[in-house]
Amino acid sequence: MTAELEDLFSFLRFPSISTDSRHAGDVRACADWLSAKLTGMGLTTQVHETPKHPVITARNAHVPGRRTVLIYGHYDVQPVDPLNLWTSDPFQPEIRDGKIWARGATDNKGQMMAHVLGVEKTLRENQDLPVNLIFLFEGEEEIGSPNLASFLLHHCDDLRCDVIAISDTGMVAPGVPTLGYGLRGITCCEAILRGPKGDLHSGLFGGAVANPAAAMARLVSSLHGLDGRVAIDGFYDQVRPLEDWERRMWSHVPGVSDMDYLQVTGSPGLFGEPGYSSAERTWARPTAEVNGIGGGYQGEGSKTVLPAEAFVKLSFRLVPDQNPKDIMEKVKNHLEWHCPAGVEIEVRSGHDGKPYITDPNSKYGLAAQAALRAAFDAEPVLIREGGSIPIVQTFRDILGADSLLLGLALSDAQIHAPNENFPVANFEAGIRMNQALLAELAK
Ligand code: BES
Ligand code: ZN
Repeated sequence: MTAELEDLFSFLRFPSISTDSRHAGDVRACADWLSAKLTGMGLTTQVHETPKHPVITARNAHVPGRRTVLIYGHYDVQPVDPLNLWTSDPFQPEIRDGKIWARGATDNKGQMMAHVLGVEKTLRENQDLPVNLIFLFEGEEEIGSPNLASFLLHHCDDLRCDVIAISDTGMVAPGVPTLGYGLRGITCCEAILRGPKGDLHSGLFGGAVANPAAAMARLVSSLHGLDGRVAIDGFYDQVRPLEDWERRMWSHVPGVSDMDYLQVTGSPGLFGEPGYSSAERTWARPTAEVNGIGGGYQGEGSKTVLPAEAFVKLSFRLVPDQNPKDIMEKVKNHLEWHCPAGVEIEVRSGHDGKPYITDPNSKYGLAAQAALRAAFDAEPVLIREGGSIPIVQTFRDILGADSLLLGLALSDAQIHAPNENFPVANFEAGIRMNQALLAELAK
């Protein structure tokens, strides 16, 4: 195994699951390992405490007059359940069929290590970097980066940069270099419907008392019209329409046809807002999703119960120029207004993040395209992303810098799911791409 793969495997063995407090020690150990790696490369490295998981920064000796490039990544990962669906242990990486299998292999440890090792290789070859570099790695991306904005505010002088590079997004097909120029925003909430003071016998009380689970089903179905559009008042008010040039350009992007979406997801059918392709629906249109729903008996067989309460976890993906706080206000009004009679509702809002869009053909965008072209020996495609990296718009707000999204995540990488994987070829191309990127950004 190459030294590069050894490094990635060591990184992947830490179960740095940020949402699970039982893994706080593992997140910390992962941060310490990373910090030692960066120090070993000759970078000035700091581990910064936050109320939860540490932020790591590392930099070379900055030379006046050189471009300053900030590279961002996250070393935390999503939980692994359901564990029984994994072919191999999520924290014992393995290579099978030319792919690395482990939680975090793609999101984000594999892509992040490509940044680190691209820098290491350039340092080894030239004893120097062509740019002033700042690495910024956090351990809380998968829980909505709750402490990173305040970190940026406190350290904005040290983090001042010309441009930001991030590999934490998608690549439309193997061998097709992909530059992302947009991300959806997000806002999340949980709604709880409460009925009787405790669970009831459904024969003795059903029919006389409102059933919170049935009320929840009606409430959730009020979120969409039958045509698939979100039915919340004013939801689309600030939505910036898709540009004609984007629709034309995207119709030629490989790997993202409606047939591809059917094939990748294994779903028996597609469903979404009328008038848009699957790629357009996920990259440039806002949505309302149910992430979890529950209430009442979940066990084997039947139990004739009228549950005391029911819950739903919702998230809304947002596009320019929707504002997460404004949308959550509208969501709350909608849920309260549509709450069926006989139950009480509580809505708890969760984390959020703004949508992001930039010009893929700006000076730095063209440098990113050149680096992608060089690493993959193919013409890059330009896309927006359906996923969210909430800190990206915050980078622009606080640091005044735009982000280049050089995605290496394939659609079958199973990120956030069992059997996450990352092709060795993408890892190696990622290292080359980062070397090319430093050279291009220095020009
Ligand atoms: N790396 C993903 C986001 C992503 C993946 C964007 C693929 C584009 C293509 C990131 O780690 C992620 O999952 N973000 C969360 C953010 C949320 C927890 C605030 C998301 O999008 O659900
Ligand atoms: Zn990620």
